[in-house]
Amino acid sequence: MLVSAKEMLNKAKEGHYAVGQFNINNLEWTKAILLTAQECNSPVILGVSEGAGKYMCGYNTIVGMVNGMIDTLGITVPVALHLDHGSYEGALKCIEAGFSSVMFDGSHYPIAENIEKTTELVKLTGEKGISLEAEVGAIGGEEDGVIGAGECADPNECKMIADLGVTMLAAGIGNIHGKYPANWAGLSFETLEAVSEKVGKMPLVLHGGTGIPADQIKKAISLGVSKINVNTECQLAFAEATRKYIEAGKDLEGKGFDPRKLLAPGFEAIKATVKEKMELFGSVGMA
Ligand code: 13P
Repeated sequence: MLVSAKEMLNKAKEGHYAVGQFNINNLEWTKAILLTAQECNSPVILGVSEGAGKYMCGYNTIVGMVNGMIDTLGITVPVALHLDHGSYEGALKCIEAGFSSVMFDGSHYPIAENIEKTTELVKLTGEKGISLEAEVGAIGGEEDGVIGAGECADPNECKMIADLGVTMLAAGIGNIHGKYPANWAGLSFETLEAVSEKVGKMPLVLHGGTGIPADQIKKAISLGVSKINVNTECQLAFAEATRKYIEAGKDLEGKGFDPRKLLAPGFEAIKATVKEKMELFGSVGMA
């Protein structure tokens, strides 16, 4: 059964570890992440961007697939199905479809509008027991075709949004989606500390988990980050393993072209990446 991310994140915040959000793109991705979470006895959040939602034939299809897998694979660890960087309308659709968690990314709106829309969603999600993530200070990198530098959130604005009663808060601290450029300045721990102080017990979310060095991840967790989003790293691992299989000519041997064989190395590579992250984040054994 899908659960809200609230309890798992509050536990993570108290226990000084983080729960991974791994974005899904298809059946292989979803199965690999769920099986790894179960093997690691770790809570997990499946992230779905609006683009990936369209790709997978809509939110109802995804809810059906995830619920079916949880049942058939015997998944007993806490699983939240979460809309990633949702619009207001997207959040409403996911709530309707049966997601257990949604993010409303109002970071590109003026703060008053972000507050207004977030307030409405706090009410709607609260009524249904669904967790809600809000964002302050846009996360840089490529997000739906828009490229930016890692922005830093205003701690006072973070407090305003946190006080509305959201479940978790994503604050820009110099993080970027996708691969980090060679001249990246690293995470702004100064910003993170200031935000943490303002929002108290609220679990903080670190987007752009791909390629952040392990020591920075650990420090971010020690300063109140309880949810870390990873997407690109699983894609890179999948692509590399698939390329190796094809370059080795394995698809030309016997029935190597069968998708169940062709996609198997990429599937295993996602599993290995997810396991590595769960170990780094400290969520293994915390289900
Ligand atoms: P990466 O693709 O950089 O891992 O970022 C994932 C993310 O933050 C999704 O919201």
